[in-house]
Amino acid sequence: MTEKPKLLLALETSCDETSAAVIENGRIIRSNVISSQIAIHQLYGGVVPEIASRKHLENVLEVVEMALVEAGVDKKDLDCLAVTYGPGLVGALLVGVSLAKSLAYALKIPLVPVHHLLGHMYANLLSHPDVEFPLICTVVSGGHTSIIYWEDHGKMSILGQTRDDAAGEAFDKVARVLGLGYPGGPEIEKAALVGAENIKFPRAYLEADSYDFSFSGLKSSVINYLHKNKQNGQDIVVEDVARSFQEALMEVLVEKTLRAAKEKKVRTVALAGGVASNQALRLRMKERLEPEGIQLIFPEPVLCTDNAAMIGAAAYYLAGQGKVAGLDLNAVPSIPIHG
Ligand code: KG4
Ligand code: ZN
Repeated sequence: MTEKPKLLLALETSCDETSAAVIENGRIIRSNVISSQIAIHQLYGGVVPEIASRKHLENVLEVVEMALVEAGVDKKDLDCLAVTYGPGLVGALLVGVSLAKSLAYALKIPLVPVHHLLGHMYANLLSHPDVEFPLICTVVSGGHTSIIYWEDHGKMSILGQTRDDAAGEAFDKVARVLGLGYPGGPEIEKAALVGAENIKFPRAYLEADSYDFSFSGLKSSVINYLHKNKQNGQDIVVEDVARSFQEALMEVLVEKTLRAAKEKKVRTVALAGGVASNQALRLRMKERLEPEGIQLIFPEPVLCTDNAAMIGAAAYYLAGQGKVAGLDLNAVPSIPIHG
């Protein structure tokens, strides 16, 4: 198939959101229903994989029904099915993949497998339909952190990625040791608003020419700081620790993104993934990029975190490139990003 679908149904179940969306001509979001499991996983301080799979299984058909009703679309009008097939929690992915296969089989329409991070990247095209390639896309999610040179649809290269913790993972882990809730990113962002940057945590720039990241040292420094202060009976100001941590992490993200944008001579930088909803990060990026004549774009908040609309946006172009799957499609928990 090389024709782009007019009306597709997309499913996303890679982690803790069950989502279904109807996308028209790759751009128009007819519906984007997201059923979040956060309240359940909060009880455990993080995502419990088996609970995630079971909740997807319970909810997914209702979410699909809601997406169709909200879009005012009948199943028989769909001309394509899209699904996240990896990376993610395997039991969670399998729920979406098996339902997508069943629907594609029953409706006799093509099935497009979508890499989750490619979906995050394409969320930018839903919010900014007129954006022009090439661009640098900095993907900052709970499981991944990468700087990608995105030349065109189907053409990209990874310039760097994290060697240990992802940016969102660092936010979540630091929030946990600070006694803040899950997910940690929004909690740290809120605390940092009223905190001062008065603790100098390390910035891991690695080799001078590297676009890779390492956030585990920063996380350990925060833990060491908390231990030392507790042992010495000194007060810990959670807001100051949150602010100092966030500043350290952002600085490395921003400086490496700027260097990549200058090296590749792009006019646009796109942020993608859950951490891209952080206002302080957006502001800091903008402050550094704009004086260099580089435009910053990011998806609207609901499209930054996991959702099926972004999967549908990516699938539209993948379908156009003939990247459809057979009914032997499987879930792949770990797989490098590809277009
Ligand atoms: O992209 P996403 O929804 O799921 C993955 O693909 O991983 O990202 C979730 C991550 C979590 O680690 C969460 O703490 C982080 O995004 N996050 C944030 C913010 N909102 C979500 N991190 C920093 N600031 C935020 N406002
Ligand atoms: Zn995600």
